[in-house]
Amino acid sequence: MRIIVEKNYEAMSKRAAEEIAKVVNNKPNCVLGLATGSTPEGLYKELISLNKEEKVDFSKVTSVNLDEYVGLSGEHPQSYRYFMNTNLFNHINIDKSRTFVPNGLVKDIEEECKRYDERINELGGIDIQLLGIGNNGHIGFNEPSEFLYMGTHLTGLAESTIEANSRFFDSMDEVPKKAITMGLGGIMKAKKILLIANGEKKAEIIAKLVEGKISTQIPASILQVHHDVTIIVDEAAASLIKK
Ligand code: PGA
Repeated sequence: MRIIVEKNYEAMSKRAAEEIAKVVNNKPNCVLGLATGSTPEGLYKELISLNKEEKVDFSKVTSVNLDEYVGLSGEHPQSYRYFMNTNLFNHINIDKSRTFVPNGLVKDIEEECKRYDERINELGGIDIQLLGIGNNGHIGFNEPSEFLYMGTHLTGLAESTIEANSRFFDSMDEVPKKAITMGLGGIMKAKKILLIANGEKKAEIIAKLVEGKISTQIPASILQVHHDVTIIVDEAAASLIKK
């Protein structure tokens, strides 16, 4: 794992945007695996600026997102489709019909999951997968558990995740309890992985990710065996790494 420590959130976001822009510039028709959450907001702002300055062109890019809440339509302000449209897609020259987010409203979730994985395969796989990390070590909505899943699947959210995400909703009760998420297999098949984290709150999990054992209780720890992982963190998130 390549670990890059930047001074603060802005520098982390800028550096991560450069990594993504590099992939797009090397392969204009690449497949970007994208993520939601507070962490990538700054990185998406940087990508918007780079696009406006004509330093990166998204016109041939396809994107696939990691996850979506079950039960929220793409118009719901807390859905991940809505997040992606408002934080990135509406502001860059990407073809929206080539942006994929799991559909949280489908009746047949199993079929939706199967189709999602087939689509990624048909696209030739993900060139770079962007990841945030939950305080509990989740990536996408692959929560700590006795078992991990290969493919895209329906999952319940961990209590700690519901609590963490309740900051975006009026109350804990309104946070969806289920989601569709890409599995660990889907993430690990990406050619490159870029994980970003900032702030003191992430310091403990980043230290475990970088220096701890591989465990299904820390789903992100499986990234230790991927051949091309870059972790970009700010100084606060790096503060508990020993070496
Ligand atoms: P955050 O979420 O970026 O809002 O901290 C990260 C995650 O849960 O994956």
